[in-house]
Amino acid sequence: MAPAATLLRLSDAAAVAEAAAERLLGALAGSRPVGLATGRTMEPVYAALRRRLAALPAQRRAELLAGWRSFNLDEYVGLAPSDPRSFAAAMATALAAPLELRPGQLQLPDGSAPWPEQEAQRYAVAVAAAGGIGLQLLGLGSNGHVGFNEPPCGADAPCRCLELTPATALQNAAAFGGDPAAVPRRAITLGMVEILAAEQILLVVTGAAKAEILRRALEEPPSAALPASWLLRHPQLTVLMDPPAASRLALS
Ligand code: GLP
Repeated sequence: MAPAATLLRLSDAAAVAEAAAERLLGALAGSRPVGLATGRTMEPVYAALRRRLAALPAQRRAELLAGWRSFNLDEYVGLAPSDPRSFAAAMATALAAPLELRPGQLQLPDGSAPWPEQEAQRYAVAVAAAGGIGLQLLGLGSNGHVGFNEPPCGADAPCRCLELTPATALQNAAAFGGDPAAVPRRAITLGMVEILAAEQILLVVTGAAKAEILRRALEEPPSAALPASWLLRHPQLTVLMDPPAASRLALS
């Protein structure tokens, strides 16, 4: 394991969400944009972030919101931002609307772009032009993906348009009426290249269902079969876990 990886097993999922929100709040004050993620793991994180922002003195809150710049990891190909099943809609509900962010402050790939490969290129250029990511928030896919970097995936995989795996369709089916066949076949995702180029990485993992894939990601040699395992190469990786997620780790 990378010597700099910090593994934090907190008391429960609520404590994990609070700790992640605290770090996000700190990163919003930084000079680089924040990298954001979607998924059920992030819902309590964003709720905690909203609460923390609301509790700030009005001027500090206004400063942070005025300076907000973020790039989400990924989006389904074929879903417009107005589609309630899109990640853009999820982010609008969780953060952009309640925080009254201006258009362009919270960015995602455009799932409705007519040429998804070109859209992936455009998005990679936009992230680079903004100076790259400061703090990158990540969840963990049940098959070891981060963003939508599906296995097999090398550490040199760039931002791109790719096919989603059946495992991911199954994991994300709930947002599509429970039907894996209704989940879009393709997505645009930041690659391992952009993720590993972030100043800091914050991997958030909760629930017993992720325990075994987290153990493999952290304890097996990094490999393309498990994209999250490349994170161990990063010099500033923090993993926030609740006890069920950490239950299979050989933590000292
Ligand atoms: C999704 C997203 C990932 C997310 C992961 C975990 O497919 N593309 O960015 O981190 O899967 O999702 P959840 O938190 O719902 O388990």
